[in-house]
Amino acid sequence: MDLNTIESDEIGTVAELPAARAAAAKKVFVKTYGCQMNVYDSQRMTDALAADGYTATDAMAEADLVLLNTCHIREKAAEKVYSELGRIRDMKAERAGSGREMLIGVAGCVAQAEGAEIIRRSPAVDLVIGPQTYHRLPDVLARVRGGEKIVETEYAIEDKFEHLPQPKRAEVIKRGVTAFLTVQEGCDKFCTFCVVPYTRGSEVSRPVAQIVAEAERLADAGVREVTLLGQNVNAWHGQGDNGEEWGLGRLLSRLAEIPGLARLRYTTSHPRDMDDELISAHRDLAALMPYLHLPVQSGSDRILKAMNRRHTARDYLGLLDRIRAARPDIALSGDFIVGFPGETEADFEATMDLVRQVNYASAFSFKYSPRPGTPGADMPDHVPEAVKDERLQRLQALLLKQQQDFGSSLVGRTIDTLIEKPGRQAGQKVGRSPWLQPVIVDENAGEIGDIIKVRITGTGYNSLFAELA
Ligand code: 5AD
Ligand code: SF4
Repeated sequence: MDLNTIESDEIGTVAELPAARAAAAKKVFVKTYGCQMNVYDSQRMTDALAADGYTATDAMAEADLVLLNTCHIREKAAEKVYSELGRIRDMKAERAGSGREMLIGVAGCVAQAEGAEIIRRSPAVDLVIGPQTYHRLPDVLARVRGGEKIVETEYAIEDKFEHLPQPKRAEVIKRGVTAFLTVQEGCDKFCTFCVVPYTRGSEVSRPVAQIVAEAERLADAGVREVTLLGQNVNAWHGQGDNGEEWGLGRLLSRLAEIPGLARLRYTTSHPRDMDDELISAHRDLAALMPYLHLPVQSGSDRILKAMNRRHTARDYLGLLDRIRAARPDIALSGDFIVGFPGETEADFEATMDLVRQVNYASAFSFKYSPRPGTPGADMPDHVPEAVKDERLQRLQALLLKQQQDFGSSLVGRTIDTLIEKPGRQAGQKVGRSPWLQPVIVDENAGEIGDIIKVRITGTGYNSLFAELA
């Protein structure tokens, strides 16, 4: 029996029971690595654990349960987890016998990919839980408290979203005026560098009604901006109310009708899934922010083919022309991989060329990291690390220049800003531009949640400085 049930059933006596007191004060520390979907998942796990009597803490030292929500996308991500586990193990050892044991859980994509190997390598770990089974977390924990070590990485047949509790209104308010909402998970594209189809499984889309209900709850708690998440979000296709199949463009139109929700975004997209309806949504929906993260990975057709991207550089550029025709002020962001197996200097130059043609407002670029089990890992002609380093530096210098030029181009202009949180310095608040830049304003410029007009006066590294227009 779960001790929390004792607490709620026998309110009068609970204070006398030390065990119940400890249970009442159970704390969870969650550390999140990787993408925004992991940020969302961490929140949902925290919500599931809240229903189980846990409150969240920012201090690992006072936690009864430490959960690492891990990322497997590149080498260092997993290695960081193992070294973190070493530190936590020491903390757990210090606590042994104190009457307040520490449980250690590993969730996320490393959990899914490595499974029982994690407990073999780090025996202090008590549970390993993959992304498809987070709704089972309270059950898993009950078994762990009974002395078992658990590895739960099956792809569940039930819909985890249906079983994960929604956060309390107060919790949503605490999390702020911007929120993530996962609408799609998994990927069927099988790019040859990518581990996601193996860690997150095949594509699953949440149904319209579930998404709308969640978005309404967020809006009701004061959320002004929602970012729809999916590994391949624009491949989302969900069942509408009347059994019709909807695409992402139509979903966005529906969400734009929700009172209070002023801003919508979605990420991450695949060029192959930008359909006409979605492109039109960029033209028709004022709430859809003029910012699109559309990774291309490489500018070389030869490498794109080896990556199994199923489009050419020209296809990508043509697509951007259509998107820019629909929404001329759209700013673009992308992901790039340098040093994919077989990449020559000429291939890399093609990437640099494409970047020069597109002119990105922001971008992420990475050295290729072979992921065990993916086709890329077994390809010939791996690029030496030093060459990858050198190419990455050149690419990042170009991308940084484009990002800063984009920021500078906004100086003197009046733009909308969503006031998000207090600034790091006294007397300031931080807002968010339509293009995802932090906007530093005077604290009296508006209240958190307000969307105000500001005039851009200057730029920082990635931020903008502004005054009330
Ligand atoms: N090596 C390097 N970068 C990768 N990405 C995905 N897999 C790898 C890998 N094996 C990058 C891609 C993707 C982003 C999320 O991470 O650019 O779009
Ligand atoms: Fe990392 Fe991909 Fe998993 Fe996100 S889905 S945590 S990026 S491996």
